[in-house]
Amino acid sequence: MELQIATDGLKGKIILVTGAGDGIGRTAALTYAKHGAQIILLGRTVAKLEAVYDEILALGGLEPAIIPLDLKGATQKHYQEMADTIEAQFGHLDGLLHNASLLGTLSPFHQIDETVFDDVMQVNVKGAFLMTQPLLPLLKKSAAGRLIFTSSTVGHSGRAYWGSYAISKFATEGMMQIIADEYSNTPLRVNVINPGGTRTQMRASAYPAEDPQTLKTPEEIMPLYLYLMSAQCEETGQCFDAQPK
Ligand SMILES: NC(=O)c1ccc[n+]([C@@H]2O[C@H](COP(=O)([O-])OP(=O)(O)OC[C@H]3O[C@@H](n4cnc5c(N)ncnc54)[C@H](OP(=O)(O)O)[C@@H]3O)[C@@H](O)[C@H]2O)c1
Repeated sequence: MELQIATDGLKGKIILVTGAGDGIGRTAALTYAKHGAQIILLGRTVAKLEAVYDEILALGGLEPAIIPLDLKGATQKHYQEMADTIEAQFGHLDGLLHNASLLGTLSPFHQIDETVFDDVMQVNVKGAFLMTQPLLPLLKKSAAGRLIFTSSTVGHSGRAYWGSYAISKFATEGMMQIIADEYSNTPLRVNVINPGGTRTQMRASAYPAEDPQTLKTPEEIMPLYLYLMSAQCEETGQCFDAQPK
């Protein structure tokens, strides 16, 4: 698998990135823009999205669109309206990176709080589910549609105390496999990325005693994000580690 993507490898592609205001999503949005894509920035904190918008323009990228949306409260109606707007403005969608997630609270299984469980499942699973449904017809209109979900090491191997978050990531991997199978005879490619430990706010919340300098930066894991979004990607239905052991 050759991960090298030309600097104009995503030229003119319309790519939606969720959680684009911070962490890995922010870096993915900037990286895709640097490779020629027009980015739809989705997130819950408008000021952060506007800062990424400014950064993309400053580096000479195509003007992004901003969709302020909190996946926690969003309903089917919001996602349908969003898809209608994207279709009216762009006609189709080339790529969707499901990146936004909630960590919730790490705790012993018997102490998992129902509200935390509901919030994590709502954002990480139901949000991605409801958003994907109306966007699939737009991805199918692309000559090389790419749908990427984000999981975690605890999304395919359960680990003590990772409760709601790990359960949500198992569900995410299952959702990816179902869609990949349904579209296996089409140009649409559907995969999961496991970023591995990466220097972000979420990682710092999960491992407060860890030295962040020991971790890879979001920039360092971008080759896989680029490859899976590119026309070069032929694989579908797979989970890829951005930091293989
Ligand atoms: N970092 C790691 O080590 C690591 C390891 C394995 C997997 N992952 C996965 O990688 C992805 C990115 O993680 P990260 O470390 O970059 O996390 P992060 O630094 O916490 O960034 C997450 C982004 O998602 C947004 N977001 C969270 N809840 C949202 C909601 N309800 N509606 C809309 N946007 C929301 C956040 O918005 P705000 O900016 O407004 O907070 C933020 O921009 C996640 O799926 C995570 O599970 C990360």
